[in-house]
Amino acid sequence: MSEALKRQAAAMALSEVRPGMRLGLGTGSTARHFVDLLGEKVAAGLDVICVPTSEATARQAQELNIPLSDLDTLDRLDLTVDGADEIDPGLNLIKGGGGALLREKIVAAASDAMVVIADASKCVEALGRFPLPIEVNRFGLGATRHAIEQVLTHHGAQGGLKLRGEEAGNPFVTDGGHLILDAFFGRISQPEALSSDLLNIPGVVQHGLFLKMCSKAYVATPNGVEELKR
Ligand code: A5P
Repeated sequence: MSEALKRQAAAMALSEVRPGMRLGLGTGSTARHFVDLLGEKVAAGLDVICVPTSEATARQAQELNIPLSDLDTLDRLDLTVDGADEIDPGLNLIKGGGGALLREKIVAAASDAMVVIADASKCVEALGRFPLPIEVNRFGLGATRHAIEQVLTHHGAQGGLKLRGEEAGNPFVTDGGHLILDAFFGRISQPEALSSDLLNIPGVVQHGLFLKMCSKAYVATPNGVEELKR
């Protein structure tokens, strides 16, 4: 899907931004368009304060002179705009393809509303075609991996687990200093149960299932941007 379509979805989300808002800024190629467009508004005088969900987004926002803060200074945000790797009909999401899922989830949970921007290729009937990113502590990786594999078997995963970056000999490290295991499900039939089973494993820091967090999605299609609501 073209960058032009992603930008159209980003422009729709921008229309929800009001002066004085406290905003969460997502991560990824679609969120990047939103930050770009927001930068233009800020340059034209829009007054907002923003919390980025990754070091990459923080750098982009700084280059655009978008005022930044954090969740120590601000304990609530009005709106977070972010991308997604998968969106189901109930606006449940898989996120973390870019590795920013932990900060993305913290920021979304601290926001009164989460709006997702994406192209239509991200819409699925059931989550799980996209490998589920699971952020884990480096300590005890082998034991954590074993415990996650048992959860995968219990939930009927069709594939295994891959340490992100392992095949290149260069494991991916998140902004929080953790590793990511990508879990190949095929189809996730019980997302809520899977979420709690994963979070019960002590070495799991967070996973990329964002359940009932997103209230609206702007999905770009070649025929225009569709608004989906929960
Ligand atoms: C980052 O960790 C992810 O959650 C992204 O939001 C997600 O991967 C979507 O990225 P794109 O907009 O680049 O597809």
